[in-house]
Amino acid sequence: MSVRRVLGIETSCDDTGVAIFDAEAGLLAHALHSQTATHIPYGGVVPELASRDHACKLLPLLEKVFQAADVPKQSIDGIAYTAGPGLIGALLVGAAFGKALGYTWGIPTVGVHHMEGHLLAPMLENPAPAFPFVALLVSGGHTMLVEVMGIGQYKILGESLDDAAGEAFDKVAKHLGLPYPGGPALAVLAEQGMPNRFVFPRPLTQKPGLDFSFSGLKTFTMNTLRATDQTTQDKADIAWGFQDAVVDTLYLKCKRALQFTGLNRLVVAGGVGANRELRMKLQTLTQMHNVNVFYPRLEFCTDNGAMIAYAGYQRLKMGGDHNLEILASPRWNMESLSTPNL
Ligand code: KG4
Ligand code: ZN
Repeated sequence: MSVRRVLGIETSCDDTGVAIFDAEAGLLAHALHSQTATHIPYGGVVPELASRDHACKLLPLLEKVFQAADVPKQSIDGIAYTAGPGLIGALLVGAAFGKALGYTWGIPTVGVHHMEGHLLAPMLENPAPAFPFVALLVSGGHTMLVEVMGIGQYKILGESLDDAAGEAFDKVAKHLGLPYPGGPALAVLAEQGMPNRFVFPRPLTQKPGLDFSFSGLKTFTMNTLRATDQTTQDKADIAWGFQDAVVDTLYLKCKRALQFTGLNRLVVAGGVGANRELRMKLQTLTQMHNVNVFYPRLEFCTDNGAMIAYAGYQRLKMGGDHNLEILASPRWNMESLSTPNL
């Protein structure tokens, strides 16, 4: 059976996302529930609360997308759910929900890799990037540079050896006394910062290679903060220095990856891809090096159901399954998705 219309379900962390993608008409509808308000009192994501909230929100969101798309449920050809990586309880809620719907409706399902969802999110935009391209994936859990030859043809060029870029943003934000979710809050504070009062190191940029290491910036932040009066201005100046270092490091590594592969298309995806300073800095690649940079729309930089519906559509074309095994892999290596000829 050919696949045309796919329901996507995302529950890997603290956003519940549901969407319907149609091969001919594109994205028909998407709905998102952010759990930020639930987790704010705890200063971070509480996995058990995340799972419970996904369970409460999936059915209402499902109804919402079907109403918005104005298509009958019987018109769905397949179901894609995020199978990992992510929080195991949260993944299990979406996976069980997706499998149960597939079983009830008698249609195939597929477990989607969350980072493949992020990687393919810019394909929902116009213009979409053509293959091959280099992808910078910068989320809360992962920082990676990937050479993408096609769907499922991924070569990891480099990745974070410790904290992901988003994780570093969140942890440094916490040290600066900012509320969860820290990344966007830190970016706002940095706007008030004095440029170059504090110059942070650019980790691993002096060495060859494309790996990242951001955990040292946390220690640098704490030491720098301790040496000040810890006023709001001091914190803003530190936020500026930290953000500048992360952005500059990501920029330098992207440039290196493009040179290494000889490609001139760059896709940026994942939550940190929403960062304004990063987007401005990457414009240099366009202006000076003739590189086309592609982003998902801002709301699809962070977690959403649309990217899972799209990646799921691509995967279901290769073959979904009717079996009753619920897939949930909290640690799922992205390299295992690649076809062996890369
Ligand atoms: O992709 P995402 O929604 O979830 C994961 O798959 O992890 O990314 C969330 C991450 C968080 O660490 C968040 O702080 C960061 O993206 N983030 C930002 C910004 N918006 C979200 N970091 C820096 N600047 C932003 N504007
Ligand atoms: Zn994500």
